Formats: sequence, C-alpha cells, structure tokens
Amino acid sequence: MKFFIDTANLSEIQEAYDLGVLDGVTTNPSLMAKEGISGDEAVKAHYKAICNIVDDKVSAEVIATDFDGMIREGKELAKIDDKIVVKIPMIKEGVKAIKYFHSEGIRTNCTLVFSAGQALLAAKAGASYLSPFIGRLDDISFDGLELIQQIVHIYRTYDFQTEVLAASIRHTMHLIKCAEIGADVVTCPLKVITGLLNHPLTDKGLAQFLADHAKAAGK
Ligand code: E4P
Repeated sequence: MKFFIDTANLSEIQEAYDLGVLDGVTTNPSLMAKEGISGDEAVKAHYKAICNIVDDKVSAEVIATDFDGMIREGKELAKIDDKIVVKIPMIKEGVKAIKYFHSEGIRTNCTLVFSAGQALLAAKAGASYLSPFIGRLDDISFDGLELIQQIVHIYRTYDFQTEVLAASIRHTMHLIKCAEIGADVVTCPLKVITGLLNHPLTDKGLAQFLADHAKAAGK
C-alpha cells in the first residue's frame, strides 16, 4: 500500500518524506491556492519543487473543463517531470481526456469520484489512478468506505489496472480501514500520517523504560 500526502505545502511534504514512509503527493487547485501559488510559471516551478522531494508520483490537476483545454494543460504538466500524473475531473470531457492520455502513455488520476459507475468509466478509459472522496461522502451521510470496498471488488473482479487511490481522508481510521479493504494508495493530510504514531500505551511504556533505566543507573 502506498502513502501519498494530500497537500501542496513543501515543508509538510518534506516532513512526511523524512519520516521514510511517503511515496507520492496529490494536490488540487484549492490546495495550490492555499499556498498562494498562481500563474503558469509559478505553478510549474512549485510542481517541480514537489517532484524534487518525493520518489514516486505527484498528481497535478488541470483547470480546464473542455477536452482541448485539458489535453493542452495536461501535456504541459506532464512535461514538468516524469513523476507527474495528470489529474482530471470525472466529467464527460474528462473521460475522453483520460482515454486520450492513456493512448499517449501519459498517466492520469481521475478525481472527484463518488460512485461505482464513475469508477467503471474511469477504468474503462484507462485511468492510472482513481480518486474516490471518502470524507466528502461521509459529510453527506453516505458511507465513503463502502464505496472503496465496492470499487476494489469491481476492479479485482475484472482485473482493471487502475489503482484505487482513496482520497478525502479525514482521520486515521479512514486510512486503516482503507488498508483492510485493499485500497492501493491512500492520500491524506500530514496529521493523519503522523497520527498513526500515537498510542498512549507506547508513551506510558517508554516513560517507564526510561525511568527504570535512570533508576538502575543511579540517576
Ligand atoms: C484528492 O486528491 C483530493 O485532493 C483530496 O483528498 C480532497 O480532500 P478534501 O475533501 O479533504 O478536500
């Protein structure tokens, strides 16, 4: 299972990478805007900086919603670095663009996925990754994890090569359940990755070990 971080913040990406468990990065236009990144050249430079930190894939999202625009932007993004995956929204023009990029050997991540039907379309079009949004489904009282389970089952049944990249992860239990279900990748905020470290019995046990050691050493 791969861990991606869902941010455009360079220090958070570096911190997750330094932990030794980070594979790649996903971004979206909102995350880029949060970092104050705008303008073609600044956007490209920022993606390059992200690619320079991590070893695996970096998803960079197109802004265009028409086929020609998505192809133009996607090609520009793909030129930045071999690690770039072009992120395309799950809309009709997006499905066509995914099919086009697949035939050109350019990797895609189909984003804003909320149903098994959309997942089927993306896989048929040849998406490299599929991003179902768990948290946003939970927000409207649909079970996001159930969708991941359904998609994993469908993809395995038909041996689709599209990787299930569980997105919109809000807490550690989302991540752990995705691991149980068999999602190929999870993308989450830094606090969810570092949250996996926490256990009160670890803290208590370590404090006891250190205290016993100090006592034995006569400190
Ligand atoms: C995934 O690629 C998206 O950028 C992201 O996971 C969305 O998460 P959010 O619902 O927390 O904004």
